[in-house]
Amino acid sequence: MKKLFIIFLLVILMIATIAVWSFSYKTSHEEAYVPIANLTETLIIPSEEGVFERSKFALEYSKMPTDIKHQRSLNTYYDNRAFYGAPPSIPHEVEERNMGANSCLKCHENGGFVDKLNAYSPITPHPEKENCRQCHVPQKTKDLFVSTHWSRSKGPSIGNKALMTSPPVIPHQIQLRENCLSCHAGPSAPKEIRTSHPDRINCRQCHVINEKLIKDIGVFTRK
Ligand code: HEC
Ligand code: HEC
Ligand code: HEC
Ligand code: HEC
Repeated sequence: MKKLFIIFLLVILMIATIAVWSFSYKTSHEEAYVPIANLTETLIIPSEEGVFERSKFALEYSKMPTDIKHQRSLNTYYDNRAFYGAPPSIPHEVEERNMGANSCLKCHENGGFVDKLNAYSPITPHPEKENCRQCHVPQKTKDLFVSTHWSRSKGPSIGNKALMTSPPVIPHQIQLRENCLSCHAGPSAPKEIRTSHPDRINCRQCHVINEKLIKDIGVFTRK
């Protein structure tokens, strides 16, 4: 009886060994891959979310031809701003008695050519800020009422890269500029900064911020 029990135990152990070994042998031959269908959400670093806001248009942007006659340049871009980073004034007529929202977004959400103005509408980087005219005001005059000594600060220089073919650094702050494609792609992007590769949607994978603008203030203590 005791013998039979030991033989029975050994047989069970043998079967278990064979089962475990053959299972691990089988799985070691499987390819390492994650089925795409099971990835319900792509994980994005929250602080870099804005980069992907317009990426569904990326392929269209990369196919758009350049309309040389109606390009904007950085000079005209800065001309319309009181100082670097200020909200641009509205260079065209607007419907009175509304704060913006759809009356502006119909042209400024996705851009497009406007015959009447003979220009492409610049795409807004912040379609969610619906009270457009809280910050953007129409131009009433090109002249100043009284002359001043005010001189406009310049934007940071571009073309700052380590090697000839390296990605240039991002010379500006990212706050309120998370939505890269709105300014850097399509026919309304100033020609100097229109990217040749709007389809490489993860911009901040290659372009890093030039941190020099941020000063280290040390450990802050209240006096
Ligand atoms: C019919 C389409 C259309 C509508 C509606 C419209 N815009 Fe525009 N907007 C344009 C075009 C086109 C330009 C470019 C003009 C140019 O470059 O000469 C422009 C330029 C601008 C600019 C200057 C952008 C820059 O970078 O210099 C601002 C600001 C602006 N619009 C704000 C508004 C606001 C606010 C509203 C709503 C009250 C509005 N627009 C409604 C077509 C439109
Ligand atoms: C809280 C203030 C504020 C509100 C509200 C606001 N904007 Fe702006 N807007 C700005 C500032 C500031 C800039 C300049 C951004 C920069 O240079 O980084 C700007 C830039 C723009 C530009 C130029 C983009 C470019 O090419 O540089 C357009 C077009 C524009 N806004 C349209 C709109 C529209 C349309 C609305 C309403 C849906 C709107 N804005 C609401 C502050 C605002
Ligand atoms: C409001 C419009 C706007 C947005 C949004 C924006 N940029 Fe810019 N970018 C500019 C302008 C204008 C310049 C030229 C320098 C300046 O005035 O700051 C520039 C310059 C650059 C340059 C330097 C190009 C060169 O040739 O040296 C890089 C790189 C760049 N931006 C990357 C980005 C990335 C990445 C994002 C998204 C995280 C972004 N930008 C979002 C307007 C914008
Ligand atoms: C795979 C890396 C990579 C990614 C991702 C990438 N870039 Fe670039 N970018 C580069 C390189 C490299 C250059 C320099 C190209 C050259 O000098 O020929 C460059 C140049 C630029 C320039 C200068 C003008 C030009 O096209 O030469 C701008 C503006 C720019 N990138 C914006 C962007 C934006 C906006 C995004 C996201 C939509 C982006 N980049 C994504 C690598 C990248």
